[in-house]
Amino acid sequence: MIHSFTPNTLKKAIMFLRKGELIGLPTETVYGLGGDATQDQAIARIFEVKNRPSFNPLIIHGHSLASFNKHVIWNEKAGALAKAFWPGPLTLVLPRSPSSSISLLASAGLDSLAVRIPKHPVALTILEAFGGVIAAPSANLSGKVSPTQSHHVEEDFPNLFILEGNSTSVGLESTIIDLTGPSPELLRPGGISRENIEAVVGTLEQPSTSYIKSPGRLKSHYAPLLPLRLNAHSPLETEAYLAFGPTSLKGPHILNLSKNKNLQEAASNLFKMMRLLDKTFLKGIAVAPIPLTGLGLAINDRLERAAAPRES
Ligand code: TXA
Ligand code: MG
Repeated sequence: MIHSFTPNTLKKAIMFLRKGELIGLPTETVYGLGGDATQDQAIARIFEVKNRPSFNPLIIHGHSLASFNKHVIWNEKAGALAKAFWPGPLTLVLPRSPSSSISLLASAGLDSLAVRIPKHPVALTILEAFGGVIAAPSANLSGKVSPTQSHHVEEDFPNLFILEGNSTSVGLESTIIDLTGPSPELLRPGGISRENIEAVVGTLEQPSTSYIKSPGRLKSHYAPLLPLRLNAHSPLETEAYLAFGPTSLKGPHILNLSKNKNLQEAASNLFKMMRLLDKTFLKGIAVAPIPLTGLGLAINDRLERAAAPRES
């Protein structure tokens, strides 16, 4: 159920977290399915209710840099990135500290941890009141489109305690940078553009390993039910259309990510509009070409994954 955010529902949320139960909470990227990162039982429940492959590790959310001190080992580049972009849509993968009490299940057996400080006031208030760290994947069933509004969360998890936080402002998941190796690697493009990150730490490597390091890298992901056709300049008669930029096309099955080609607006509309067009029950969704600059990199990444052949 969805609850407005009040002192009373804040108290309830904290109580649920302490008991090892889950809550739905807004962040500036997408809504998260949160649980106490130090309780194995809470983490196990996250994997279970999401139906998530157990090798896919979770992002750990904290209120301040200090919340991560006993959990990860910092380095200079991580410090510079945190200073530049936190709180905000950036996740840093760092070596796990031997003193960390975070559930091993949360990092799926890796000797690293992915951490971030979110920017949404509701998430920050919860993290501060809770005083600990919260593991939170996107609050959707595994492989499905991420939620950018509270009712999206309720559709997948009708019994969950969900806090209202309006439409998420960024609308795409955080950018993930791996800082465990000799040079930073871009594991997942996201809410902070590659260009902005490179301005702080220099050129980013593509992931060097062939095994799945960041299973947001699973080929089919973020998938709507209808098949997607990318880089389409117009829809077929049997298709809905997701436009980008000025268009003369009109109709109930035509939505526009951004009429004036603003990539930030397009990012924040992407998942919501994919969900809406999915409900037109036509034969498919055609999507206009999106430039590969700035947030366009992350938008294209999500679209390609949504269009990839489905694993059954
Ligand atoms: O914006 C976001 O990051 C949202 C909000 C809720 O914070 N969370 C999110 O979580 O997108 P999720 O679970 O959907 O994606 C987590 C990603 C996965 O691709 C996972 O593989 C990667 O983080 N990840 C987590 N721990 C990792 C680690 N130790 N090393 C490499 N990748 C890791
Ligand atoms: Mg996800």
